[in-house]
Amino acid sequence: MKSNFFFMPIPQYFGAGISMEIGAQLAQLHSKKALVMYDKGVEAAGIPSKIVQCIQAEGILVVQNGDVESDPSDITVKRIAEIARQEQVDAVVAIGGGSSIDAAKCVKLLLNNSGVLEDFYDLTRPQKPSGIPMIAIPTTSGTGSEASKGGVITDTSKGQKRTIIGPGTMPDMALVDPELTLSVPPKVTAACAFDVLAHAIDAITSNMTNPITQAISYEAIRLMKGSYRQAVEDGASLQARSDMHLASNLGGIVLSNAKCSVSHAFAHAMGALYHVPHGVCCAIFTPACLEYVADQRPEEIRKIAKLLDTPFREDESTASIAWRTGETIHKMYRSVGVPDIIEYIPDAAEAKRALIPVAKQDIMATFSPRALDDAGGCWIIDRTFELARQ
Ligand SMILES: NC(=O)c1ccc[n+]([C@@H]2O[C@H](COP(=O)([O-])OP(=O)(O)OC[C@H]3O[C@@H](n4cnc5c(N)ncnc54)[C@H](O)[C@@H]3O)[C@@H](O)[C@H]2O)c1
Ligand SMILES: [Fe+2]
Repeated sequence: MKSNFFFMPIPQYFGAGISMEIGAQLAQLHSKKALVMYDKGVEAAGIPSKIVQCIQAEGILVVQNGDVESDPSDITVKRIAEIARQEQVDAVVAIGGGSSIDAAKCVKLLLNNSGVLEDFYDLTRPQKPSGIPMIAIPTTSGTGSEASKGGVITDTSKGQKRTIIGPGTMPDMALVDPELTLSVPPKVTAACAFDVLAHAIDAITSNMTNPITQAISYEAIRLMKGSYRQAVEDGASLQARSDMHLASNLGGIVLSNAKCSVSHAFAHAMGALYHVPHGVCCAIFTPACLEYVADQRPEEIRKIAKLLDTPFREDESTASIAWRTGETIHKMYRSVGVPDIIEYIPDAAEAKRALIPVAKQDIMATFSPRALDDAGGCWIIDRTFELARQ
């Protein structure tokens, strides 16, 4: 009998204000000196200072590093890991979106394992899961990185994104506090929402999907659909922010299980080559990639269409329903100001030349229920440009 494997992630606490527990949590781990990592935007929002105060209130020393950049590079990860070694920290705290959390996951990996970062591009290399613990405090509702086993970094030697997956990149705890997302600007809120949608759709359609990941993913889509617009237009709404943060967290939980699929293969390629925010790339590629795999997932496509309020006839073909659903998703992201591909790459031929070879090599392409070949890549790009020109 085929079993439905489901990996339960780490202890998580969810709720408004929960990030203020960080000092007590580190004290329970007997931490004496913690590295706290974040980026400039999170710093400007005034979030790290409050969290650092909570840690210091427990008598724990803090080494602060606010140097993480968007789409963090291998160079940044190695530099911060070296600082952490020299400072002999005994815990790592990440405050931020996927960039800060992923960089911290890779710093944790380097602190607990011998070898250089590049060694772990080989996903068969064993990773020690424990040693110096890492606590993730997400401040965007998008990647769900606090709940997933894997970090995405930019390999500067190849100009491509690398996903390092394994037990060594798993946070040891997550404090998921929707209050921290109140300051996320509308543009970032909108883009990140479509990362959530892409994770859920990919986890429903990937070749690693199962009934448990699907149940969670459908709920993530329901929450995202019901709250993304309000989170963008009324960022002070704690209800909308909470629903989006929960949807994001659920997306992270399913990622560790069902992985992602073609939309993320293209999103990684576009992010690495054109430095477009990850959520924007996800929005751009979700419609065509959903259509690309539709024939493999007829029942699931119907459920997704219903959750996204896409009307269809019961006797309609899966391809036609997927086409309508792609149109819905395109309208959804355009309605909250997420740009189309032509804002970044005006020419479809260039997009094909640049993106397809990189997307085909991305690990997420291997989880697609329909192989990504050159012809398939061209079809996805053509459909994405067709939507953009409407
Ligand atoms: N590990 C995973 O499972 C996973 C999944 C998807 C994407 N990713 C990766 O995550 C990265 C993208 O993460 P992201 O979309 O969260 O973006 P991000 O972390 O780069 O943050 C986007 C911007 O928002 C700002 N910001 C974050 N929180 C804020 C707040 N509360 N108030 C004000 N500004 C705030 C940041 O400073 C930054 O400028 C990419 O590298 C992507 O490849 C990882
Ligand atoms: Fe993503």
